Amino acid sequence: MSLNFKSIIKNKLLFLIIVPSIILILGMIIYLAEEKVAEAAITLNPDNKETILLGKSVYVQNCASCHGAKLEGQKDWMSRLPDGLMPAPPHDETGHTWHHSDKYLFMITKYGIEDIIGQKYPNNMPAYKNILSDKEIISVLSYIKSTWPNKVKKIHDQINNREKSK
Ligand code: HEC
Repeated sequence: MSLNFKSIIKNKLLFLIIVPSIILILGMIIYLAEEKVAEAAITLNPDNKETILLGKSVYVQNCASCHGAKLEGQKDWMSRLPDGLMPAPPHDETGHTWHHSDKYLFMITKYGIEDIIGQKYPNNMPAYKNILSDKEIISVLSYIKSTWPNKVKKIHDQINNREKSK
């Protein structure tokens, strides 16, 4: 009898504490692993009409106020503002957005510049991790890429290939 009672207590303990903890920990590991895998596989899709359409509306609502309705950036974008910060650069081919790989652009837009370069760097670029979904970030960057001339798109593809083969 007493043995039975003990084993019931043990079973209860197992189900109430140990099993949920294991599930929680496994869940967290899978969630974190999936997020990392997803971010390692970021690829812009400037040829997909649906992506571009979504990306354009995300751009108009979230980015155009600083980066310009025509992706032209802020006036005198290469000179510091009176507060010492940099203005928003253009996202067209006159800027340096296309110098960066898909993954880098995604990470900067999602987490902000400081997070990616890993040091303090006061700047006016917001992090969008709590504002836009990954799909919206990929779409807006795909829209930006879709506006570049073919020559620039090709160079950008090469930058991506170089990064992926590292
Ligand atoms: C409040 C103004 C503001 C808004 C809104 C904004 N940005 Fe920026 N962004 C900046 C500034 C300023 C920089 C340059 C920061 C620096 O280098 O000091 C920047 C830089 C960037 C860069 C890096 C460019 C490069 O060549 O290094 C990317 C990519 C970028 N922004 C994407 C976006 C996207 C996508 C959106 C909309 C979802 C957006 N930004 C909205 C101000 C803004």
